[in-house]
This record gives sequence, C-alpha cells and structure tokens, in this order.
Amino acid sequence: MKKSLLTVSLLSILTTSLLAGDKKERSGAKVYAESCAVCHSTKFLKEAPKFGSKDDWEEFIEEGQQFPVAHGWVGTRKMPRHGGDPKITLNEFINATAYLGNSAGADWKEAKDLDKETYKEILKEIQIRLQRNELYDKIGKKY
Ligand code: HEC
Repeated sequence: MKKSLLTVSLLSILTTSLLAGDKKERSGAKVYAESCAVCHSTKFLKEAPKFGSKDDWEEFIEEGQQFPVAHGWVGTRKMPRHGGDPKITLNEFINATAYLGNSAGADWKEAKDLDKETYKEILKEIQIRLQRNELYDKIGKKY
C-alpha cells in the first residue's frame, strides 16, 4: 500500500514537471511586464536602462545583442541574475531583452528567430562571465 502511494506521488511529480516543460515560452512583452518593468520602467533603480530610452540603450545596442543578454542573465552590478525571476528560461530572458532593446531602436531578435551563431555567442559569453565572477570571488574583487 505504502509503495503504491509513493509510486503515485512520484508519478504526479513527474507529470507536473513534464507539463511545466511543455508550457509555452513567454513573449518578451509578457516577461518584461511581469519581471523587468519594476526596474526598467520606473525610477525605482535609476541605474537600470529604461524602456524606450535611446540614450540609456545606445551603448548596449552598439555591443550587439549577445553581450547585454549574457551579462544580464548572469547579473551585473545592481542587475540581479536572471532579472530576479526564479522561473525564467534563457529563451524568455532573450525575448525580454529584445523587447527592451527594440523599444530603444535595436533590431534584436526573440529566441525563436535568433541565428545559431548569435545563440552560440550568448552561451559562450555567459560561460566567460561565470568564470570571471568565480575568479573575482576567489580574489575578492567586486563585479
Ligand atoms: C531589481 C531591478 C532590476 C530588475 C528586476 C531587472 N533589471 Fe535589468 N538591470 C538593472 C540595472 C540596475 C541594470 C544596470 C546594471 C549596470 O550597472 O550595468 C540592468 C541592466 C540590464 C541589462 C544590460 C546588462 C549589461 O550590462 O549588459 C539587460 C539586458 C537587462 N538589465 C535586462 C533585464 C531583463 C530582461 C529583466 C527582466 C527579466 C531585468 N533586466 C530585470 C536592474 C534590474
């Protein structure tokens, strides 16, 4: 009896996580509204580049999409890792960053439209940032 109960609950955990995996990816606009607008559209944190501000996004647009995505995903200064959204996926983060950048004149793509090369560069830059931060942690340097 006990055993079958365990099986049932394991099964339900498995189904739940499979269903969660099936859940549709959120669009940039949706993620932005749910998780990013609090800092990127208000005066709550003045350092956050603002939605629609060409001045704020100019430098990031010049860098190319892969760098702001990777640096934002890892977290940098007051920008929290993953935008502080515990359930966000990398693709959703790419979508939301595209939505932010495009509001200020960029031509950034949502994850589904991104070319393979840029996607690879994002993954590589995330790796580089994580390794750099690990090193900085060891030597007590701020990032
Ligand atoms: C708690 C406030 C906060 C939230 C929430 C937040 N951001 Fe930010 N974000 C910042 C700040 C502050 C910066 C500027 C960091 C710096 O000093 O360079 C920033 C910078 C960025 C950058 C540029 C990173 C770089 O240095 O290249 C991107 C991209 C970004 N945010 C995307 C997002 C996305 C997408 C979300 C939502 C999923 C989000 N942010 C949620 C505060 C926030």
